Amino acid sequence: MAEKLIVRGDRPLEGEIEICGSKNAATKAMIASLLTEEPCTIENIPLSQDIAITKELCERIGSEVVCDNDHRCILAAPEIRTTSVIELSRRNRIPILTMGPLLHRRGEAEVPFLGGDPIGHRPIDFHLTALTQMGVRIERREHSYYATARHIRGADIELPFPSVGATENVILTAVLAQVKTRLTNAAIEPEIANLIGMLTAMGAAIRCDSSSRFMEITGVSRLRGVTHRVIPDRIETVSFATAALATGGNVLVRGVLTADIERFIDMIRAMEGRVEVLPDGVRFSSTPSYRPTVIEAAPHPGFLTDWQPPVSILLTKANGASIIHETVHEDRFGYVKDLRRMGAEIAISDECLGGPPCRFVNRTFNHSARIMGPTRLRGADLKMTDIRAGMAHVIAALAAEGESVISGVEHIDRGYEKIDERLRALGADIRRV
Ligand code: EPU
Repeated sequence: MAEKLIVRGDRPLEGEIEICGSKNAATKAMIASLLTEEPCTIENIPLSQDIAITKELCERIGSEVVCDNDHRCILAAPEIRTTSVIELSRRNRIPILTMGPLLHRRGEAEVPFLGGDPIGHRPIDFHLTALTQMGVRIERREHSYYATARHIRGADIELPFPSVGATENVILTAVLAQVKTRLTNAAIEPEIANLIGMLTAMGAAIRCDSSSRFMEITGVSRLRGVTHRVIPDRIETVSFATAALATGGNVLVRGVLTADIERFIDMIRAMEGRVEVLPDGVRFSSTPSYRPTVIEAAPHPGFLTDWQPPVSILLTKANGASIIHETVHEDRFGYVKDLRRMGAEIAISDECLGGPPCRFVNRTFNHSARIMGPTRLRGADLKMTDIRAGMAHVIAALAAEGESVISGVEHIDRGYEKIDERLRALGADIRRV
């Protein structure tokens, strides 16, 4: 039977929590290890399901992956066993990133149509156009994309939007192409900087000017094995911080990279929540009332889209009307109907509320939310539909009066290590059945 979380809410979270490594950086580092025949040691890998899926993907391709109990994995792919990973379809969005490594190692790659969270249409047209510009021939088959390349060409690529995945795909394809690839309007998320750090240590030549979203990659003939450390998970950090603030609690989040959560810290200070940046972490302490705020979720250095579902729960506690304008994923408010059943007053709109028009203007996407507060939330039966919406459900349940029963737990398990156990250590009444 599918697992559920039972949460009895309305208890402040208190104590200290150590942040795990970033899932969205670790999975990419695992794929980067396929670019070399030498072993790569990756440290600070979180034990979440997306990592298990990516481990299986690397193993299918030919990696031997050995992980210890200390969040460290050694991946070695002296030989590529298969260039087709289509049977791993619809479990996450990582398989498309194997194209570059497989093209370099074997001249062909067959990847499935992508899975991942239902937060928008999420096409891969930017990936396909960019790789085609680089000389990759891509054929769409019934259930897959089949790519071949004799030689990767130098290219000047401009992304229509700073897509994280498309930027990573271009980087992973360009590093071993013995030409120059220039990428404009690139994504510059910290997880991408972490990937560039690993590739540079492997011998890649990547020049990145973050302020102008420009990258120049000069391909090299081979890359070597490295030891690489994954950055702390800034989504997990914000999830735990928000849970503390929304439950009237006080939590020291350890191992945080403060620079990576600057926009969140600014928001909490503007809401008059308390934030203390300490040598060993950041302490988030609640206040009796919060000021409402306006958030625009946007590519880095903007407010991270993956923060908006958990943060929406805190906004139900603010004194007045807050706005979230989501400009990255067009359909990321699916979780709101459950919050409304819990007593939240949230109106969804297809207008660009609270700021300048975004690329979704005059489309029919419900990409803005107006959240009235303060409201008291009541426990309810909830169903997770994606990782971050799942975290919103958990935080709502922790902040609500009464009991909530949450199904769809496999979603949150994809992105968070032992979420129930770690919340219990902060005083939450949460159990898995
Ligand atoms: N887009 C296109 N065409 C493309 C690629 C993207 O239209 O070819 C659009 C998407 O539909 C979306 C926007 O561009 O509207 C941004 O997509 P992006 O490519 O940046 O997202 P991604 O690489 O698929 C990663 C994270 C997401 C995170 C986004 C944005 C991973 C595995 N996933 O997705 O994280 O929301 O970047 O920062 O790294 C999560 O962790 O819960 C999560 C969804």
